[in-house]
Amino acid sequence: MTLVNREIRLAARPVGEPVPTDFELVSAEVPALAEGQILVRNTWMSVDPYMRGRMDDVESYMPQFELGAPMDGAAVGEVVASRSGAVPVGATVVHFLGWREYAILDAAAATVADTSLAPAQAYLGALGTTGLTAYVALTETAPVREGDVVFVSAAAGAVGSVAGQLARRLGASRVIGSAGGPEKTAKLVSSFGYDTAIDYRAGSVAAQLAEAAPDGVDVYVDNVGGDHLEAAIGALRTGGRIAMVGAISAYNATEAVPGPSNLFRLAAKNATLRGILINFYLDRFPEWIGKAAGWLADGSLHTEQTVVEGLAEAPAAFLAMMRGANTGKMLVKL
Ligand SMILES: NC(=O)c1ccc[n+]([C@@H]2O[C@H](COP(=O)([O-])OP(=O)(O)OC[C@H]3O[C@@H](n4cnc5c(N)ncnc54)[C@H](OP(=O)(O)O)[C@@H]3O)[C@@H](O)[C@H]2O)c1
Repeated sequence: MTLVNREIRLAARPVGEPVPTDFELVSAEVPALAEGQILVRNTWMSVDPYMRGRMDDVESYMPQFELGAPMDGAAVGEVVASRSGAVPVGATVVHFLGWREYAILDAAAATVADTSLAPAQAYLGALGTTGLTAYVALTETAPVREGDVVFVSAAAGAVGSVAGQLARRLGASRVIGSAGGPEKTAKLVSSFGYDTAIDYRAGSVAAQLAEAAPDGVDVYVDNVGGDHLEAAIGALRTGGRIAMVGAISAYNATEAVPGPSNLFRLAAKNATLRGILINFYLDRFPEWIGKAAGWLADGSLHTEQTVVEGLAEAPAAFLAMMRGANTGKMLVKL
């Protein structure tokens, strides 16, 4: 019997903010399995901010999406056929061939997920690269020390909602989050362990940060760049540390975005601004999952997902996430 797959392809390179016509839903036959391969029925896929950069025709740390070819990214699914002794039918696997209903891949390119620890979709969020990013950012890139004041931007998102709770666990005395809108800022305090929250859409980030942290901040997890980074540099204490995780405020920019006007103040503050790319830290997964799965199970790590249903809606889910429609991890249920 022929199996028909549906997949999302990049139809056009977006200019500025992507639009629905930049994507197309296409049906294609699933080829036969070769020796060593598995067939996975994807059950969940991730949409992530870094995918925006891959839609452009520029060189980056990840290959660009090819026009007219299926997109890819993190997904989980169930193995429905296997020609590998290592990964049996019925296993739940994490892999990188998302944006499609069925994936054929070498068994070696899949990681079997332990669904007795957490539901499969957790491996795309807190137990996936976004959770790991928060962990590495706060333990290695900009390590939190006992008593630190910590500031996190995009704080209600996938990385940010874990980062706030982690900062507290690592000994922060005060954790400040920034997000867009009153609902999200309320949630930062009620659900994600933040002491206080800034609504960046309601006024100047610098002025609100000065009020929230009158004595300055020691650690900043930068998910946003732009005015947030400039405000954090201004508020940084001597010896402060910034983890440059993302710059989502500039991902749709059509022209080069200038850096912060106060960058050199980092020198006078003897401060550190260090980038992090999670791809360099994937060997830390066992360590992170070993900690975080227990916290998820005992309820001391609170996570949320915003779920969009159906492959056809995946582009809309991506666009909505970029505009801030998600609280916690944005996922597509297939
Ligand atoms: N370096 C790495 O290895 C690595 C790994 C994972 C993620 N990242 C980066 O970390 C950041 C967060 O990623 P995520 O997966 O956790 O996404 P996310 O925070 O779950 O979703 C993106 C959020 O960004 C916020 N946002 C969008 N435009 C904004 C703007 N102009 N100013 C301020 N906030 C804006 C929105 O929240 P609001 O409603 O609050 O605006 C939106 O919900 C991204 O920059 C991403 O590229 C980096």
